[in-house]
Amino acid sequence: MLEHGGRLRRAAARHGIPLADWLDLSTGINPVAYPVPPVSAEVWQRLPEEDDGLQEIAAAYFGTHELLPVAGSQAAIQALPALLPGARVSLLAPSYAEHAHAWRGRAVHQCDAAGLDAAVDRSDVVVLVNPNNPSGVHFARDSLLEWHTRLARRGGWLIVDEAFIDAEPGASLAAQAGLPGLVVLRSLGKFFGLAGARVGFVLAPAALRLQLAEALGPWAISGPGRHAARHALADRDWQQRMRHKLTADGARLAALLQEAGLGSVSGPALFKWFAHPRAAALHEALARRGILVRLFDTPASLRLGLPPDEAAWTRLRTGLSAALHDIA
Ligand SMILES: Cc1ncc(COP(=O)(O)O)c(C=O)c1O
Repeated sequence: MLEHGGRLRRAAARHGIPLADWLDLSTGINPVAYPVPPVSAEVWQRLPEEDDGLQEIAAAYFGTHELLPVAGSQAAIQALPALLPGARVSLLAPSYAEHAHAWRGRAVHQCDAAGLDAAVDRSDVVVLVNPNNPSGVHFARDSLLEWHTRLARRGGWLIVDEAFIDAEPGASLAAQAGLPGLVVLRSLGKFFGLAGARVGFVLAPAALRLQLAEALGPWAISGPGRHAARHALADRDWQQRMRHKLTADGARLAALLQEAGLGSVSGPALFKWFAHPRAAALHEALARRGILVRLFDTPASLRLGLPPDEAAWTRLRTGLSAALHDIA
C-alpha cells in the first residue's frame, strides 16, 4: 500500500492527540464539501440504475458525452494499464504515486515536467497530472494537445489526470474527449470535497470506455455515490461560488506560507507545496501541535491543504511559526 494523506487515525495514535483535536491539512480535498441532500431509503435499498440521469448531468458539467462514471479516478488508474498496449511508458515525477504503481512491470521512464516533451517521442503511453500533485506544475492545453497528436499518430496514448482542475475548468482537455489516444481522468473527491463518495469519471473513446466498463463490472458506483454526484455536478451556483472561494483561499495559503519564510510555494487552489531541507522535522513539529500535513521524501517537501475556517487559519499561522522556531 502506498502512502496517502488523510491518515488521521494513525497520526492521532502516534502523537497521543485525540482525533477531534487535529487540524488535518494532509490532503488536497476541499474542506467545505458539497452539501449532499439526504439519501432516501430507496436509494440505499435498490440496485443503482444507469439511466438515473447521472450520464446527462455529467455530460453537461464536463462538456462531453464521451464519459464513463467509475468508483473514483483511482479505479481507472488501476484498470487502465491492462487495457492499453505499449511497452514504453513515461510518467511525470514527482507526482501522484498510484500512477507509477499501476504501471509497474512496463518499461517505465519517470521524468520531470521539462523532460516530458522529449519523452513523448520514445513512449507508447505518457501519463501526467494537470495541475500536478504535489508540485503544482500546470501544463498548457496547447502543449498537451501537441503531445497527444504526436502520440496518437503512432497509436500511442496520453493520459491526463485532472483530479485538481475543477477550479480552473478552462485548462481541461475534457472537450477533446473521444479523440483516439486520449484519456482524461476526473474526480469528485477534490473540488467537491466528496472523496468518501468514491466517484470519478473517465473521458475517453467509446471502445476504451466499453473495455473499462467490462473490466470494472456492473454497479461500479453505489446508489448513494451516484446520488451525490448527480446533485454536485448539477449545482452550477455552488460550483461558481466555490471556484471564487477556493481561488481566494489558495492565494491566502500561498501568502501565509511565504510570510512564514517558506520561499517558493506552488500548487493549485486546493493545496500548496514547497521544498524544505528539514521537511521531515517540520512535519513532526507541526504534528506535535496537532497539525497534520503531507510529507514527501523526494524531494524533501511538504504539501498543505486549505484550512476549513477562520479558527483553523489562525491555528495554522501560529502553529507554523512555533514549529519553525522549534526546528531552527
Ligand atoms: C492526482 C490524483 N489523481 C487521482 C486521485 C484519486 O482520487 P479519487 O479516486 O478519489 O478520484 C488522487 C487522490 O489523491 C490524486 O491526488
